[in-house]
Amino acid sequence: MKARKPLVAGNWKMNGDIVSNEQLFTALRADLGRASVPQVEVVVCPPYPYLGQAAAWLGDTGIAWGAQDVSALPNGAYTGDVSASMLVDLGCQWAIVGHSERRQLAGETDEQVAAKVSMCMTHGVGVIACIGETLEEREAGRTEAVLGRQVDAIVAALLDPARPLPAERVVLAYEPVWAIGTGRTASPEMAQAAHRFVRERLAQQGYRHAGATRILYGGSVKAANAAGLFAMPDVDGGLIGGASLVADDFLAICRAAAGA
Ligand code: PGA
Repeated sequence: MKARKPLVAGNWKMNGDIVSNEQLFTALRADLGRASVPQVEVVVCPPYPYLGQAAAWLGDTGIAWGAQDVSALPNGAYTGDVSASMLVDLGCQWAIVGHSERRQLAGETDEQVAAKVSMCMTHGVGVIACIGETLEEREAGRTEAVLGRQVDAIVAALLDPARPLPAERVVLAYEPVWAIGTGRTASPEMAQAAHRFVRERLAQQGYRHAGATRILYGGSVKAANAAGLFAMPDVDGGLIGGASLVADDFLAICRAAAGA
């Protein structure tokens, strides 16, 4: 068994409604109660309007819930944004930041991602910070340069001594952009190489919890390929998009992580 407890997070993206969410929550509750899978930490990230529903359905289980994004800014005149303090107010334990869809569609920069990490640290919200290269960058041999740049920005935020976040609340997710929602997964060896690089970079940059930090793989993780990915020494679980919307698939992925 790995020293780092595996974590599986479901990123529902902009999917779901009250009725279908209820079915999914019911299935997760039935299968993933605190007692049944203690070897894996499970986080479910529905869209903002359903965080209250997540709280109601998952609050008394061992399953945590989180947001898919958080503002880089404090409360104030920022129409449409949701602050870290609001997440805390709701009892929300986690936030995904820097997802490639936000980097690409909303033009988020490394600096903004770092500011979001800082906001989470200030308010004690666990952070799942996403990094990953595009196909173009990989084919140009720039994967490590891109990952290094993205990691460095995140580490700069993590090193702020005024706002320490315990290592178990800092999670990175390596999500090669070309693997997200495409059905094309990185091979376990490719994922391992990237994860190893990211962990070494965290350490080189002076983050002393690099060895304890969980690094998730994301990008077309399915029940069929999860075990192979999670068996890699530096792959500490997964960030799951499409398959997290199907209870049986998500549960199978959680079991694969528990067995890794
Ligand atoms: P996918 O998405 O599992 O649907 O590829 C992963 C993600 O974007 O987090």
